Amino acid sequence: MKLRKLVFATNNAHKLEEIRSILDAQFQILSLADIDCHGDIPETADTLEGNALLKAHFVYDNYGLDCFADDTGLEVQALDGRPGVHTARYAYADHHDPEANTDKLLSELQGAPNRAARFRTAIAFIRGGEEYLFEGIVSGSITTERRGTQGFGYDPVFVPDGYEQTFAELGVEVKNTISHRARAVEALCKFLHNKGRK
Ligand code: IMP
Repeated sequence: MKLRKLVFATNNAHKLEEIRSILDAQFQILSLADIDCHGDIPETADTLEGNALLKAHFVYDNYGLDCFADDTGLEVQALDGRPGVHTARYAYADHHDPEANTDKLLSELQGAPNRAARFRTAIAFIRGGEEYLFEGIVSGSITTERRGTQGFGYDPVFVPDGYEQTFAELGVEVKNTISHRARAVEALCKFLHNKGRK
């Protein structure tokens, strides 16, 4: 059987492994490095969907290959949905500092009774010039201090609903069954398996 080639607009090894393990049988997933795309892809939109579309379009328009891309944000209720699209550069607008981001979040929520938050992942898929969007959400709350050592980013301060431990305490196996990214990837995979064999 001939494998269909799809580009995932990322070089994040963990994300690639995650999606390859789900889609392995029918699709060959190529990274940006695999297609020799080393330029900076703009992420200048003001929504997660907008950024995912920018990244997927960049590859489709420049390389003529079907492509999907993701973008994730942490949306905190008491902060009117912030940091949202600015999640990666919450503390510093010009670079990504995960420790400083978490410090800023805890300090903005100091004393706040409402600590509800959710991670949301948007995936954009461009196939033959047509755009498709998928979403994954995990709701939960922000702790008052860091707990746990696994994971990355805001994992030590995020407790998913239905659990008492943070993502950093729960570990990757549990996290990958309920996370925002896993749910968005699942939605994309369902689409590819049902309608993706064009
Ligand atoms: P990205 O769009 O996947 O690069 O995610 C943007 C930012 O959201 C990352 O830099 C992290 O700070 C944060 N983030 C995304 N996914 C997670 C997660 O699963 N746990 C904790 N933080 C995350």
